[in-house]
Formats: sequence, structure tokens, C-alpha cells
Amino acid sequence: MDEITLTRRVLLVTAVGAAVLPACAGVKSREMPPPKPTGDGLIDLALTVNGEKKTLHIEPRVTLLDALRENLGLTGTKKGCDMGQCGACTVLIDGKRVNSCLQLAVQQEGRSITTIEGLARNGKLHAMQQAFIAHDAFQCGYCTPGQILSACALLQERKPADDDEIRERMSGNICRCGAYPNIVAAIKEAAS
Ligand code: FES
Ligand code: FES
Repeated sequence: MDEITLTRRVLLVTAVGAAVLPACAGVKSREMPPPKPTGDGLIDLALTVNGEKKTLHIEPRVTLLDALRENLGLTGTKKGCDMGQCGACTVLIDGKRVNSCLQLAVQQEGRSITTIEGLARNGKLHAMQQAFIAHDAFQCGYCTPGQILSACALLQERKPADDDEIRERMSGNICRCGAYPNIVAAIKEAAS
């Protein structure tokens, strides 16, 4: 990739990230923390992921999704569309569900990030994970981490009144295997 192409790409990614951030799933817009240039074009970044402090040395344009998967090895968070349309990359940021492919990692300093790897406690699965297993709410499983985290946040937001409300509020998480009836059943059980 030549320098002109790279520069244009960096600008585009940065612009898109800035444009979508305020609209993403309840995450309040705020000023970015000051970057810490290191002279090699990379930045030092400290993230809190699943309760643990992680330090990264990455390009400023890296998305949260790629930082989790490629830099921290947390591959439970899945990359589907990489453009905010499928929900496979859903994580929780300060308890709110967010498409991590639409977030820049550099903007997450000071926030608490939860991935599917951080949901179980002391070797015991989260109630939502247990409900998904009990109701066979997956087939290939690719969408499942995002579905489970999104469902956890849904219940934190407010208890759904009925199946239609669950379907509506889970509509950002696509399941190409069509496991929707089982997913709704699992969320209903966890809600109860
Ligand atoms: S990979 Fe992020 S929404 Fe599809
Ligand atoms: S279980 Fe295969 S995409 Fe949802």
C-alpha cells in the first residue's frame, strides 16, 4: 500500500469512526483521551477488558473489534459484516451493548469492556449462557457471543413485555442460521 492510499484510508476510517460513535447503542459521546505518540506512529493504550487492565501498542485507527481479536487474542467476539449491520461483534462498554467494529480502540480508555470471555464467574456460566444452552439457541454459533451479550444488556435496560418486544430489541443481532425462536425462548427464561 503506498503512502497516498494509506493516508486516505486512515482519514476515511477516522472520519467514519467519528461519525458513527454518538449513534452507537447508548454510548455517550465524549472527548477522546489524548493519544500518547511514541514516535513510531503507534500509540500506547490501556484498556480494561473483563476486569483486567491491558496495555496495547497499536495504530490509532484500529477498531475495538480488531484490538480485542488480533491484539488481545479474545476471539470470542466475532467479525461478521465489519460495518455495523450484523451484531456479531457486540460487546458491553460500561454495561451498554455496542458494535465493536464501529468503535476505535483508542476511544475506550477509562471504560469497562466486557466480552463473552468475561461473562462467566468463578467457572460458572452466566444465566443467559445457561439459557441459550438449555434452549438450543444456536446452530453454527457464530452469532451467539453477540446474541448473548446483547440479550444481557437488553434485560439490564428493562424487562421485555412480550416476545415481540424481545424480537424488536434484538433486531440488531442477525442469526443466519435462523435460531430466532430458540433465542427468544432463552431470553424469556433468563428474564424470568
Ligand atoms: S461485525 Fe460489527 S456489526 Fe457486523
Ligand atoms: S447460530 Fe449460526 S448465525 Fe446464529
